[in-house]
Amino acid sequence: MKVTWLGHAAFLLEGEDRVLVDPFLTGNPSAAVKPGEAECDIVCVTHAHADHYGDAEEVAKSNGAPLVGIFEIATRAEGKGCEAIGMNIGGTTKMSNTSITMTNAIHSSCFVGNGTVEAGGNPAGYVFESGARVYHSGDTAVFGDMELIGELYEPDLALLPIGDFYTMGPREAVKAVELLGVKRVIPMHYSTFDVIRQDPKVFKELVAKQTGSEAIVLSPGESVNLG
Ligand code: NI
Ligand code: MN
Repeated sequence: MKVTWLGHAAFLLEGEDRVLVDPFLTGNPSAAVKPGEAECDIVCVTHAHADHYGDAEEVAKSNGAPLVGIFEIATRAEGKGCEAIGMNIGGTTKMSNTSITMTNAIHSSCFVGNGTVEAGGNPAGYVFESGARVYHSGDTAVFGDMELIGELYEPDLALLPIGDFYTMGPREAVKAVELLGVKRVIPMHYSTFDVIRQDPKVFKELVAKQTGSEAIVLSPGESVNLG
Protein backbone atom coordinates (compact mmCIF):
# COMPACT_ATOMS: atom_id res chain seq x y z
CA MET A 1 0.00 0.00 0.00
CA LYS A 2 1.21 3.49 -0.88
CA VAL A 3 0.38 6.14 1.71
CA THR A 4 0.49 9.78 0.63
CA TRP A 5 0.03 12.69 3.03
CA LEU A 6 -2.01 15.46 1.40
CA GLY A 7 -1.62 17.85 4.35
CA HIS A 8 -3.39 18.17 7.73
CA ALA A 9 -5.37 14.91 8.26
CA ALA A 10 -5.84 14.15 4.55
CA PHE A 11 -4.27 10.95 3.23
CA LEU A 12 -4.52 8.97 0.02
CA LEU A 13 -4.14 5.23 0.62
CA GLU A 14 -3.47 3.29 -2.55
CA GLY A 15 -3.87 -0.42 -2.04
CA GLU A 16 -6.15 -2.36 -4.35
CA ASP A 17 -8.52 0.63 -4.09
CA ARG A 18 -7.66 4.30 -3.71
CA VAL A 19 -9.06 5.56 -0.42
CA LEU A 20 -9.07 9.28 0.28
CA VAL A 21 -9.40 10.14 3.97
CA ASP A 22 -10.49 13.53 5.35
CA PRO A 23 -10.16 15.57 2.13
CA PHE A 24 -9.79 19.07 3.56
CA LEU A 25 -8.24 20.64 0.46
CA THR A 26 -9.99 23.96 -0.19
CA GLY A 27 -8.77 26.50 2.36
CA ASN A 28 -6.08 24.16 3.68
CA PRO A 29 -2.77 26.06 3.52
CA SER A 30 -0.82 22.76 3.50
CA ALA A 31 -2.96 20.89 0.93
CA ALA A 32 -0.87 19.04 -1.66
CA VAL A 33 -3.66 18.74 -4.25
CA LYS A 34 -6.75 20.69 -5.35
CA PRO A 35 -10.19 19.07 -5.01
CA GLY A 36 -10.41 18.68 -8.80
CA GLU A 37 -7.10 16.74 -8.83
CA ALA A 38 -8.02 14.24 -6.11
CA GLU A 39 -8.66 10.86 -7.71
CA CYS A 40 -10.04 8.04 -5.60
CA ASP A 41 -12.45 5.10 -5.42
CA ILE A 42 -13.66 5.64 -1.84
CA VAL A 43 -13.88 8.77 0.34
CA CYS A 44 -13.82 8.33 4.15
CA VAL A 45 -14.42 11.01 6.73
CA THR A 46 -13.55 10.69 10.42
CA HIS A 47 -15.88 13.43 11.66
CA ALA A 48 -17.87 16.49 10.63
CA HIS A 49 -15.41 19.30 11.41
CA ALA A 50 -14.58 21.34 8.33
CA ASP A 51 -10.85 20.57 8.51
CA HIS A 52 -11.78 16.90 7.90
CA TYR A 53 -15.11 16.80 6.05
CA GLY A 54 -13.76 19.56 3.80
CA ASP A 55 -14.32 18.76 0.12
CA ALA A 56 -15.70 15.26 0.77
CA GLU A 57 -19.00 15.77 -1.06
CA GLU A 58 -17.46 17.39 -4.13
CA VAL A 59 -14.64 14.83 -4.39
CA ALA A 60 -17.01 11.87 -3.87
CA LYS A 61 -19.36 13.16 -6.57
CA SER A 62 -16.65 14.01 -9.11
CA ASN A 63 -15.06 10.56 -8.70
CA GLY A 64 -18.33 8.64 -8.51
CA ALA A 65 -16.98 7.37 -5.19
CA PRO A 66 -19.02 6.37 -2.14
CA LEU A 67 -18.64 8.61 0.90
CA VAL A 68 -18.09 6.55 4.07
CA GLY A 69 -18.77 8.08 7.46
CA ILE A 70 -20.68 7.56 10.64
CA PHE A 71 -24.44 7.11 10.18
CA GLU A 72 -25.37 10.75 10.92
CA ILE A 73 -22.80 12.18 8.49
CA ALA A 74 -23.71 9.67 5.77
CA THR A 75 -27.42 10.40 6.09
CA ARG A 76 -26.76 14.11 5.69
CA ALA A 77 -24.44 13.51 2.70
CA GLU A 78 -27.08 11.35 1.05
CA GLY A 79 -29.48 14.27 1.37
CA LYS A 80 -26.95 16.31 -0.57
CA GLY A 81 -26.88 13.84 -3.43
CA CYS A 82 -23.88 11.69 -2.46
CA GLU A 83 -23.78 7.93 -2.55
CA ALA A 84 -23.07 7.49 1.16
CA ILE A 85 -22.35 4.55 3.42
CA GLY A 86 -23.20 5.13 7.05
CA MET A 87 -21.51 2.72 9.41
CA ASN A 88 -20.77 2.93 13.11
CA ILE A 89 -18.01 2.43 15.65
CA GLY A 90 -16.76 -1.13 16.08
CA GLY A 91 -18.05 -2.31 12.71
CA THR A 92 -16.20 -3.35 9.57
CA THR A 93 -17.35 -3.03 5.98
CA LYS A 94 -15.69 -4.69 3.03
CA MET A 95 -15.76 -2.40 0.02
CA SER A 96 -14.33 -3.82 -3.16
CA ASN A 97 -10.90 -5.10 -1.99
CA THR A 98 -10.51 -2.90 1.08
CA SER A 99 -11.82 -3.60 4.54
CA ILE A 100 -12.73 -0.56 6.60
CA THR A 101 -13.20 -0.73 10.36
CA MET A 102 -14.54 2.26 12.25
CA THR A 103 -12.88 2.84 15.61
CA ASN A 104 -13.53 5.06 18.59
CA ALA A 105 -12.09 8.57 18.89
CA ILE A 106 -12.29 10.97 21.81
CA HIS A 107 -13.18 14.34 20.31
CA SER A 108 -16.37 16.15 19.20
CA SER A 109 -18.11 16.33 15.84
CA CYS A 110 -20.46 18.88 14.30
CA PHE A 111 -21.10 20.90 11.17
CA VAL A 112 -20.62 24.59 11.85
CA GLY A 113 -22.91 27.09 10.16
CA ASN A 114 -23.17 30.82 10.62
CA GLY A 115 -23.04 30.85 14.42
CA THR A 116 -24.87 27.52 14.58
CA VAL A 117 -23.86 23.91 15.01
CA GLU A 118 -25.51 20.84 13.53
CA ALA A 119 -24.90 17.41 15.08
CA GLY A 120 -22.42 15.22 13.24
CA GLY A 121 -22.65 11.98 15.21
CA ASN A 122 -19.65 10.70 17.12
CA PRO A 123 -16.10 11.28 15.91
CA ALA A 124 -14.27 8.19 14.68
CA GLY A 125 -11.04 6.70 13.43
CA TYR A 126 -10.49 3.91 10.89
CA VAL A 127 -8.39 0.84 10.27
CA PHE A 128 -7.96 0.21 6.55
CA GLU A 129 -6.78 -3.14 5.28
CA SER A 130 -5.72 -3.77 1.71
CA GLY A 131 -2.50 -5.75 1.77
CA ALA A 132 -1.14 -3.62 4.62
CA ARG A 133 -3.10 -2.31 7.60
CA VAL A 134 -3.22 1.41 8.37
CA TYR A 135 -4.83 3.07 11.40
CA HIS A 136 -6.00 6.67 10.91
CA SER A 137 -6.99 7.83 14.39
CA GLY A 138 -8.94 10.93 13.31
CA ASP A 139 -8.86 13.78 15.80
CA THR A 140 -8.57 12.25 19.22
CA ALA A 141 -7.09 12.29 22.68
CA VAL A 142 -4.99 9.30 23.62
CA PHE A 143 -7.14 6.55 25.17
CA GLY A 144 -6.36 3.20 26.77
CA ASP A 145 -8.36 1.17 24.25
CA MET A 146 -5.76 2.00 21.60
CA GLU A 147 -4.15 -1.10 23.07
CA LEU A 148 -7.23 -3.05 21.97
CA ILE A 149 -7.02 -1.56 18.46
CA GLY A 150 -3.39 -2.71 18.32
CA GLU A 151 -4.27 -6.18 19.58
CA LEU A 152 -7.26 -6.71 17.28
CA TYR A 153 -6.11 -5.13 14.02
CA GLU A 154 -2.28 -5.11 14.32
CA PRO A 155 -1.76 -2.00 12.16
CA ASP A 156 1.52 -1.77 10.24
CA LEU A 157 1.32 2.00 10.33
CA ALA A 158 -0.51 4.58 12.45
CA LEU A 159 -1.44 8.10 11.35
CA LEU A 160 -1.66 10.17 14.53
CA PRO A 161 -2.28 13.85 15.31
CA ILE A 162 0.47 15.66 17.20
CA GLY A 163 -0.78 19.24 16.97
CA ASP A 164 -2.07 19.49 20.55
CA PHE A 165 -4.83 21.97 21.57
CA TYR A 166 -7.62 20.18 19.60
CA THR A 167 -6.08 16.69 19.80
CA MET A 168 -3.18 14.79 21.30
CA GLY A 169 0.13 16.55 21.43
CA PRO A 170 3.52 14.87 20.94
CA ARG A 171 3.71 13.51 24.50
CA GLU A 172 0.31 11.79 24.25
CA ALA A 173 0.95 10.60 20.69
CA VAL A 174 4.11 8.81 21.86
CA LYS A 175 1.96 7.04 24.45
CA ALA A 176 -0.49 6.14 21.65
CA VAL A 177 2.36 4.55 19.66
CA GLU A 178 3.25 2.52 22.73
CA LEU A 179 -0.37 1.42 23.35
CA LEU A 180 -0.90 0.49 19.69
CA GLY A 181 2.39 -1.42 19.58
CA VAL A 182 2.83 -0.06 16.07
CA LYS A 183 6.27 -0.02 14.43
CA ARG A 184 5.73 3.00 12.20
CA VAL A 185 3.85 6.24 12.71
CA ILE A 186 3.27 9.29 10.52
CA PRO A 187 2.47 12.49 12.46
CA MET A 188 -0.41 14.62 11.13
CA HIS A 189 -2.72 17.47 12.15
CA TYR A 190 0.09 19.89 13.08
CA SER A 191 1.37 23.29 11.91
CA THR A 192 -1.55 23.83 9.51
CA PHE A 193 -2.57 26.72 11.78
CA ASP A 194 -0.55 28.60 14.40
CA VAL A 195 -2.46 27.12 17.34
CA ILE A 196 -1.29 23.59 16.43
CA ARG A 197 2.31 24.42 15.53
CA GLN A 198 4.74 21.60 16.39
CA ASP A 199 8.21 20.47 15.39
CA PRO A 200 7.75 16.91 14.05
CA LYS A 201 11.47 16.22 14.57
CA VAL A 202 10.94 16.49 18.33
CA PHE A 203 8.15 13.91 18.04
CA LYS A 204 10.40 11.68 15.93
CA GLU A 205 13.12 11.77 18.58
CA LEU A 206 10.67 11.05 21.40
CA VAL A 207 9.22 8.06 19.52
CA ALA A 208 12.70 6.63 18.87
CA LYS A 209 13.82 7.14 22.46
CA GLN A 210 10.70 5.96 24.28
CA THR A 211 9.27 3.23 22.03
CA GLY A 212 11.91 2.01 19.57
CA SER A 213 9.34 2.57 16.80
CA GLU A 214 9.94 4.87 13.83
CA ALA A 215 8.19 8.16 13.14
CA ILE A 216 8.17 8.98 9.44
CA VAL A 217 7.95 12.72 8.91
CA LEU A 218 6.47 13.56 5.51
CA SER A 219 5.98 16.86 3.73
CA PRO A 220 2.56 17.31 2.12
CA GLY A 221 2.56 15.38 -1.16
CA GLU A 222 5.17 12.84 -0.01
CA SER A 223 4.50 9.11 0.21
CA VAL A 224 5.68 6.01 1.99
CA ASN A 225 5.35 2.50 0.57
CA LEU A 226 4.33 -0.34 2.87
CA GLY A 227 5.40 -3.80 1.76
NI1 NI B 1 -11.96 17.94 14.76
MN1 MN C 1 -9.25 18.64 13.18
